[in-house]
Amino acid sequence: KKNLSGKVFSGLGQGGFYVSTIEYKKEFKKLLNVDPYEGTLNIRANKEDIQEFLANKESVRIDGFETKKRSYGGINCYKIKINDVDGAIIVPDRTNHNNETIEIIAPMFLREKFNLKDNDEVELQWRLV
Ligand code: CDP
Repeated sequence: KKNLSGKVFSGLGQGGFYVSTIEYKKEFKKLLNVDPYEGTLNIRANKEDIQEFLANKESVRIDGFETKKRSYGGINCYKIKINDVDGAIIVPDRTNHNNETIEIIAPMFLREKFNLKDNDEVELQWRLV
């Protein structure tokens, strides 16, 4: 499956946590070539469509790690484009999201750039680099 369409929705604000953690940020930049805006764009899509979109695709693994204060879980990532912007789907090992939702990181505030509001439809494509 080449494309995935879904609808934007607001979450509980926990996406910013991953993206603002310096160790994760470095890995996003290194492995995905995305210097991310500090948050994740949540998208709701059909469960089977998500499975088919991700099936047999190469994922990029960010291993979990520990600091003195706490432990940070691993994240599987997939390189995508959203409206021609290079981004990534991130799938944290520990998540409150169910299998009908995905989280996107991108180098800019997508809601502003594309004037996105909740329930607006967006389309994701694969990218190779
Ligand atoms: O509050 P929520 O969990 O939905 O999101 P967040 O991860 O705290 O991100 C803050 C806001 O920025 C949300 O409205 C996201 O939809 C939005 N966002 C965006 O527009 N573009 C990004 N690259 C990342 C987040």
